[in-house]
Amino acid sequence: MSDSILDRANKGILGLKPYEPGKPIEETQKELGIQNIIKLASNENPLGISPKALNVISTQKDLNRYPDGNATNFKQKVSEEEGIKTSMITVGNGSNDLIEFVSKCFLSEGDNAIYSQHGFAIYPLAIKSTGASAIKAKAKNWEHDLSLMKELIDKNTKVIFLASPNNPTGTVLESKKIEKFLEDIPSNVAVFVDQAYFEYLEEEKHKVSFNLVENYKNLIISRSFSKAHGLAALRLGYAVSSEEIAEFLNRVRQPFNTNSLALAAGIKAIEDKDHISSSIEINKSGLKKAEEAFNSLGFEYIDSYGNFISFDSQQDSDLSFDFFLKKGIILRSLKVYEMPNHLRVSIGLEEEMNAFIETLHDYKKALDAG
Ligand SMILES: Cc1ncc(COP(=O)(O)O)c(C=O)c1O
Repeated sequence: MSDSILDRANKGILGLKPYEPGKPIEETQKELGIQNIIKLASNENPLGISPKALNVISTQKDLNRYPDGNATNFKQKVSEEEGIKTSMITVGNGSNDLIEFVSKCFLSEGDNAIYSQHGFAIYPLAIKSTGASAIKAKAKNWEHDLSLMKELIDKNTKVIFLASPNNPTGTVLESKKIEKFLEDIPSNVAVFVDQAYFEYLEEEKHKVSFNLVENYKNLIISRSFSKAHGLAALRLGYAVSSEEIAEFLNRVRQPFNTNSLALAAGIKAIEDKDHISSSIEINKSGLKKAEEAFNSLGFEYIDSYGNFISFDSQQDSDLSFDFFLKKGIILRSLKVYEMPNHLRVSIGLEEEMNAFIETLHDYKKALDAG
């Protein structure tokens, strides 16, 4: 018995590195001694939480009691809003939780799951932590390549992760293409369609309907309250699937994975349509501003359907990230996504976008000056 406790860890996690979140504001303030930090790094809602959701949080009582482990009222609200049965819903502590449930349910050593190059970083972490292999399908023009993903399926493939819109590329898949994909692949491979940025989609052809779950028993669709609903700190998301899969997902769910404050706020956030539409409007105009600036300064960017946009900073993104950071703007370097020169900008309020664009002009001057 000479091996250490670490040598005896689950082999799947030996090669993993912890997910690196966007740099926090407070830490940056201390580091740089700048008070007015602008964080455009984590695809949050710059408008903040809905006032109605905030109000209900302050009125919550019985915080000494465990939350409703079945999230009854929240599921009821989602069910009415979306026209689906409550038994098809699984709640998550953020939609990240659901990625883990699906991985835990279907994967173990010897299995594999497929995700796209430049796909959301949590997929390979969740897959590998089960001991399964994560198969990365090369992307095509930054987009998920569904034909390649289909070709990569073998007898050990149990799950395929698709994100639409995808983070950090912002690319989207047409619902029809996802349906065709479901038609073409074996029905015993689970397909997880991650729709964390669903509310920002404008065109019907991009919206994957929950109704598809009726026809495709291997389909799981997730939604998040961290983006357009502005509840990132509270951690709330849900998945819609067949009742049978939902029952499986609930087997691995901690009984109190979502807390009372998040569940109550989630209901109000769904009701507060004005807040959601204002959030979408701010995003639309911020995206447009960013695109105009990239076009006028000659930076290539990837068309985005989310609340962020990624652009080629024309040099190593550690350097470009630092340039913006020193000016008090936190962006996201995309090195871990195999996009070594790209930075991702989350869309902020008008004044935040103005500050970003002003700094982008300075950055361009510095680049040109060598
Ligand atoms: C594509 C995608 N899926 C899921 C998530 C997780 O969101 P949350 O756990 O906050 O719901 C994110 C967060 O940025 C994301 O970009």
